[in-house]
Amino acid sequence: MKMAKKLLAACGVDAVLLGILICTALGGRESGKDREADIGGDAVRGESEEKTVALTFDDGPHPVYTKELLEGLRKRGVKVTFFLMGANAQENQELVQEMADDGHLIGNHGYRHEDMTKNQLESMCESIEKTSRLIQEITGNEPEYVRPPYGSWNEDLEEAIDLTPVFWSVDSLDWKYEDTDQIKRRVLEKVKNGDIILMHDIFSTSVDAALEIVDTLLDRGYTFVTADELIVD
Ligand code: NI
Repeated sequence: MKMAKKLLAACGVDAVLLGILICTALGGRESGKDREADIGGDAVRGESEEKTVALTFDDGPHPVYTKELLEGLRKRGVKVTFFLMGANAQENQELVQEMADDGHLIGNHGYRHEDMTKNQLESMCESIEKTSRLIQEITGNEPEYVRPPYGSWNEDLEEAIDLTPVFWSVDSLDWKYEDTDQIKRRVLEKVKNGDIILMHDIFSTSVDAALEIVDTLLDRGYTFVTADELIVD
C-alpha cells in the first residue's frame, strides 16, 4: 500500500513528462507495425494486449482438495501461488514438495492463521519464521512473500518481517459461498487484466470453481502468472 502511494505520488510529479514519453513510445510502435504490414509481415494490427492474472490459494495444504487442485493445474499447465499455514504444511509435506516441483510459488500465511496485528509482534515474528523454516526444509527454498491472514498488516510488521506482503484485488468470498457456481460467477464478473484473485484450497467447491475459472480465463486469452509478477514492488 505504502509503495503504491509513493509510486502514484512520483507519477503525479512527472505526469506531463510521462505523458510525452508514453505518446512517443506508442507513436513509435504504431509506425513500426505499419512498416511490418507494408513489407508483408504477419504482425496482426490491433492484436489484443497480453492479459495476465494470478490465482492465489490460502490456508492449505488440505490433504484432499489441494491434491485435486494440483492435479487439475498440472493438466492445464497453469502456475499459481499458495500461501501456506505452517501447521497444515507440517501435516502435508509431500503436497508442499509437489507444489514446488510443479513450479508454483509458495508463500507464508503464518503458522496458525493468527491475526498479525492483534498479537504480540515477537510471537508473530516467531510464527512467520517457523513457517518459513519449515517450507525451506521441505522445498529447499525460503519464502519471500507473506499473505497476512485477514489482510491485517501494519508498519511494525512491515519493519520487523523481512517478507513482502501480498494482498489481492479480487476476493472470491469462496469461504462464505461454498458454492461452485456462485464463486465462479463472482470471480468471472470482476476479473480484469493484472488482478490477484484470493481463494482457499481447503474447500472442494473452491477447487472445482478454480479449475472452471482457469478454463474460462484461458478461453478469454488470459495467461496465469504467479503473484510475484503482478505486485508493485
Ligand atoms: Ni487465511
